Amino acid sequence: MEHQNIHTQFNDRATTYKTRVEQVMVDFVCAKKLQGRLGDAVNYALATEGKRIRPLIVYATAELLDVPSAVADFPAAAIELVHLYSLVHDDLPAMDDDDLRRGVPTVHKQFDEATAVLVGDALLTFAFELLAESGVAPSLIVEWVRLLSRAAGANGMIAGQATDLKGETCVLALDELEQMHRQKSGALIETSLSMISSQVVTAATGTGNNEAHRLEGFGHHIGLAFQIRDDLLDVEGTTEQIGKPQGSDVASNKSTFVSLLGLEQARNRMQQELVAARRQLTCFGERAEGLNWIAEYIVSRSK
Ligand code: IPE
Ligand code: IPE
Ligand code: MG
Ligand code: MG
Ligand code: MG
Repeated sequence: MEHQNIHTQFNDRATTYKTRVEQVMVDFVCAKKLQGRLGDAVNYALATEGKRIRPLIVYATAELLDVPSAVADFPAAAIELVHLYSLVHDDLPAMDDDDLRRGVPTVHKQFDEATAVLVGDALLTFAFELLAESGVAPSLIVEWVRLLSRAAGANGMIAGQATDLKGETCVLALDELEQMHRQKSGALIETSLSMISSQVVTAATGTGNNEAHRLEGFGHHIGLAFQIRDDLLDVEGTTEQIGKPQGSDVASNKSTFVSLLGLEQARNRMQQELVAARRQLTCFGERAEGLNWIAEYIVSRSK
């Protein structure tokens, strides 16, 4: 993994999990035998190198709750497909108008805008098809679809994206900005935990409730910390490092944690969210090794 200075055993497992989820996505999409320009563009998007933070959260939660990786593969891949679709659409000229993503030209630059719209549509739809064809208990598939559609939909990620666009034309209040961050990135991050923890609660006659609640709290805080770090990197990172155009938020006059609070206060707020997130994990002891690793990684990452 790219973050060599966080030394726990999860550091090595993270590399394995990344390869694993990439294989699940590629196998699924390859089996669909897409043709022509759309096929080329979907494969182009899939081959870009992401950090796979959301799948790592899924696998780390599965470790904590003793859910087999072979089951976690499905939510991990589905969430990453939804995330990838959101990036392809987020970069379009009608949205953030960015030319670079994950160190390579964005899909609309490499192909064209209409193709990028369709690639996003295809990836989003694949996510749900993958869950539907997972072969796990039908009740679990329904629960997964419910959680993922709610997080990705018009009261979740899409609502956050809408507020983000509004924030280019007016200065958002801090509470609206927080809500926007929790929706546009926090929602998928929280779902990365709940698609695993919901299984434990339903299976264990309510005994998992308290643990699920703690994990939800962790997701709530780390989701906000994640997006504050993203806002900071737009200012502090370099284009080469972050693989997307540095200063894009500033150029579009976006409301961000940095534009509202300034660098230092934004950093402080991110640290507070980290502390609050980690506090939710203390009751799990060693079982939370993976989630603790991810929390550190999220706030210290340089891309
Ligand atoms: C970027 O997400 C988009 C946001 C929600 C801020 P990531 O930073 O996880 O991007 P990749 O997947 O590693 O490229
Ligand atoms: C993107 O937020 C959030 C989604 C794609 C849902 P940003 O616009 O801040 O993400 P980057 O900075 O382009 O990766
Ligand atoms: Mg955006
Ligand atoms: Mg963007
Ligand atoms: Mg950003």
